[in-house]
Amino acid sequence: MSLLPSCRSSSFLFGTKKEQRHNKMAAAAASPLKHFVTAKKKVSGIFEQLAAYVQESAAFLEETHRDVELDPVTTEEQVLEVKGYLSKVSGISEVVARRHMKVAFFGRTSNGKSTVINAMLWDKVLPSGIGHTTNCFLRVEGTEGQDAFLLTEGSEERKSVKTVNQLAHALHQDERLASGGLVSVMWPNSKCPLLKDDLVLMDSPGIDVTTELDSWIDKYCLDADVFVLVANAESTLMQTEKQFFHKVNARLSRPNLFILNNRWDASASEPEYMEEVRRQHMERCCVFLSEELGLVDRAQAADRVFFVSAKEALAARIQKAQGMPEAGGALAEGFQGRMFEFQNFERRFEECISQSAVKTKFEQHTVRAKQMAEEVRRIMDCVHMAAQEQRLYCLELREDRQERLGFIDKQLDLLSHNYKQKIKQLTEEVERQVSNAMAEEIRRLSVLVDDFQLDFHPSPVVIKVYKNELHRHIEEGLSHNLSERCSAPVSTSLQAMQQEMMEGLSPLLPPSLRTQGVPGPRTRGASSAFTLSYDLNCHKLCADFQEDIEFHFSLGWSMLVKRFLGPKGTRRALLGYSEQVPRPLPLTPANPGVPALPQGGALTQEELMVSMVTGLASLTSRTSMGILVLGGVVWKAVGWRLVALSLGLYGLLYLYERLTWSSRAKERAFKRQFVEYAAEKLQLLVSYTGSNCSHQVQQELSGTFAQLCQEVDATREELQQEVEALSRKVELLEALQGKAKLLRNKAGWLDSELNMFTHQYLEQSR
Ligand code: GTP
Ligand code: MG
Repeated sequence: MSLLPSCRSSSFLFGTKKEQRHNKMAAAAASPLKHFVTAKKKVSGIFEQLAAYVQESAAFLEETHRDVELDPVTTEEQVLEVKGYLSKVSGISEVVARRHMKVAFFGRTSNGKSTVINAMLWDKVLPSGIGHTTNCFLRVEGTEGQDAFLLTEGSEERKSVKTVNQLAHALHQDERLASGGLVSVMWPNSKCPLLKDDLVLMDSPGIDVTTELDSWIDKYCLDADVFVLVANAESTLMQTEKQFFHKVNARLSRPNLFILNNRWDASASEPEYMEEVRRQHMERCCVFLSEELGLVDRAQAADRVFFVSAKEALAARIQKAQGMPEAGGALAEGFQGRMFEFQNFERRFEECISQSAVKTKFEQHTVRAKQMAEEVRRIMDCVHMAAQEQRLYCLELREDRQERLGFIDKQLDLLSHNYKQKIKQLTEEVERQVSNAMAEEIRRLSVLVDDFQLDFHPSPVVIKVYKNELHRHIEEGLSHNLSERCSAPVSTSLQAMQQEMMEGLSPLLPPSLRTQGVPGPRTRGASSAFTLSYDLNCHKLCADFQEDIEFHFSLGWSMLVKRFLGPKGTRRALLGYSEQVPRPLPLTPANPGVPALPQGGALTQEELMVSMVTGLASLTSRTSMGILVLGGVVWKAVGWRLVALSLGLYGLLYLYERLTWSSRAKERAFKRQFVEYAAEKLQLLVSYTGSNCSHQVQQELSGTFAQLCQEVDATREELQQEVEALSRKVELLEALQGKAKLLRNKAGWLDSELNMFTHQYLEQSR
């Protein structure tokens, strides 16, 4: 078996002129195959956008899912689902990009299958000839380059088309391929408009030379969009041909089948039978297509049956391609009609294959893409809703917290003002209480001093000790008495006030603190431990006290003056009399019985005289003044005897007083003087102590209030932080919602694109 000479001579010649003519032809006839090409372009574009969309959605969901600041708005399943779509979409995109229309030619050997393909390709691409030429499946498809080449099954090696003839021989010899191997003939697109439009043509060995029809169908037919049965018009449809298509029909749902009654040029030699033969063939073919296979209606079946001469069509086209008239050769009669029918077949075939291929190749993917877009849209909807719900919750919570903040501020202002007033009132009350109590205690100071029991001796050392002890006694006594009088009521009102403040401020604290009890003042027990400190410091206060326990005769000169003028007048008088008179020194324990004389003997004779005379006029120290007056009157009335008596009495009185001036009397005098001195000094401290105590109370209450305020402030701070955190969250959720909405809308847009595609390319093809 050898290849046809025509094949050897011209199949692989690439003339520039020739190419240009091909291109012109292509442009002149807008091929229906473009329908598939544009549909493929369109759907590829949509898939590209879908891939970008799924990528963006997956990234968004993953990022959202990882965000720890938010409560989850996506589930892990959603993230995984969308991520899973990534590979699916890219897989589909790849498949779509590789999609092409495929037409498979079948028929008995030598019916002219290879010749029909060559005629369609306008060139002798495939080997054809008398006898069993094609012994393997030859798949012709376009390639971008300028050089044609071959690819054999299971090998990447590109075999130069120069060896195609040897290959044809080799294929013929090869037994493995004889049972139905596959060789791809990669033919430059530029040479053939059909190939440019993504059409793949599959030539096959004669179906009458094999027993492996089933495996052929499985291997090469399942993805074919159109089948062309190349029959021989010189004979009738054979059982093998019919059987093959019955098998195909059983595997595929309503395959597209065209029947070419080839070699119709032979009918020209017997024109008288031509019409009859044609009618017979047509009838049988239509019955086969409609009734036996049930592929089309009887009326439409005639549109699938053509009477052609591939040999003539190829020859005419080669002529035309070379710039010669197409009917230039010795052609049989009726050539134009057969040529026209061949072209008619081509047009019908192209319409059919492009529409069918668009449907079979893209419909499933379009549906899948729609499902994916819908699913992502649903997920974005869920995310949007979840974010919306969370945002509303956050907004409500924030409003609540802001209201609480406002309430706390207002209430705190109100309570501060109120408690300041109350604290002021209470401290004034405490000041008044303490001052009164102290005044009362000063009045009762003599009792306290009288209670003091310690051996008294006029010696300075003993007196010093005595004084110290007395100071301590007074300090303790006064403090004790004052606290007896004031501490309990002050403490009670202080505690009441603290309690009131705690109760007033507790609604401003969080419920957890409220129920636990306010920590701080309540737990530290400050109110129970609070005691007023009076801080009298008697020792210092009375440090200057100078007792006078010398003997002073009650009718003595200084005593009389003191009686008339008071202690201040006496001093003035005595100073005016003799400025040199110093303060009398205390008596020394060595001469307690000797009356102390003014130092330096400054007391004059007249002074002594007056003192004597007035002394006589008095019988007792208490009534000596009255007696003195009475004495003057009596002097005049009764004369010297009475005077002498008086003097005697005066002397006795002096003696009496001098003798009774014991240590005990001195202690009494000491205590009396101390009481007077201390009362005077303490009087100065009354207001100081009052304000000191009120200050302590005020400090205590202010401290409690400040501490409570601090707790409220901490609560406020927490609330403010919560509000800020919520604001941040709301912002995040808003952004998230926006993005989810955008992606949801994008899915809607993709869906409408897919719908448009379906409407434009898939629905019309039904
Ligand atoms: P196999 O590959 O062996 O199965 O055969 P085939 O169906 O491919 O037939 P092929 O195209 O090789 O053609 C067989 C012979 O028939 C060739 O010599 C062609 O020239 C011839 N032939 C093909 N078509 C026509 C036609 O329409 N009219 C005439 N008269 N001869 C044709
Ligand atoms: Mg062949």
